[in-house]
Amino acid sequence: MLFDTHAHMNDPIFDEDREQVLLGLKDKGVEFMMNVGCCRDSSRDCVAMAEKYPFVYASVGTHPDAADEVNEEVLEEYRQLVKAHPKVRAIGEIGLDYYYETVPREIQQQAFRMQMALAKELSVPVIVHERNAHDDGMRIVKEFKDVTGVFHCYSGSAEMARQLVDMGWYIGFTGVLTFKNARKAVETAERIPLERIVLETDCPFMAPEPFRGKRNDPGYLYRMAERLAEIRGISVEEVHAVTTENAKKLYRL
Ligand code: NI
Repeated sequence: MLFDTHAHMNDPIFDEDREQVLLGLKDKGVEFMMNVGCCRDSSRDCVAMAEKYPFVYASVGTHPDAADEVNEEVLEEYRQLVKAHPKVRAIGEIGLDYYYETVPREIQQQAFRMQMALAKELSVPVIVHERNAHDDGMRIVKEFKDVTGVFHCYSGSAEMARQLVDMGWYIGFTGVLTFKNARKAVETAERIPLERIVLETDCPFMAPEPFRGKRNDPGYLYRMAERLAEIRGISVEEVHAVTTENAKKLYRL
């Protein structure tokens, strides 16, 4: 059975059939799911969903695209949500996105640091979104030696992944792994220890081949597992067992 370590099932695109998708996941081999917050409002939704479904966990945090909402009041709400709800297992997703850069870089960096500091204070892992910001991302995580977690939808080099692994981080792979042009992700998935790899859909985005471009949901996670088994030359069963164990360690379950 699989663990989807990064999903956004609160997205409005699931409003018509969310319950149906969630209740069908066991039949598609998905046993657990981390529903990831992107801003204050979606973080609240994630907590509510984790309260409702036993197999769903939640994270709270503000994505770099919304970094300008982060202030002491927002951090205090995240602090209280982590303290009050045992199924809130991480701060995220937080980080840097210089590809879209919808918020100025300095503000993204400040919001990232504030939320890393919160994770340190609460002793919880973080879920990092980092796109086109490898140098600044590495610099900031190195400022917080006690904080680790996962670099989700990993897009850096194999060398950078190795550095992160040595620092105690996990590396998350999405459906990108199944894309024909995914050379860098495949190379990284080949080279780092299997014990540091977790799988994710990042749904509703990033549907794997042969469903690319469609609405993604955790039921497609089996495709990432098949591809990882192929890349590593191991059985799908081993991928299921090891990556699920890794995810439980990542989120301290
Ligand atoms: Ni995400």
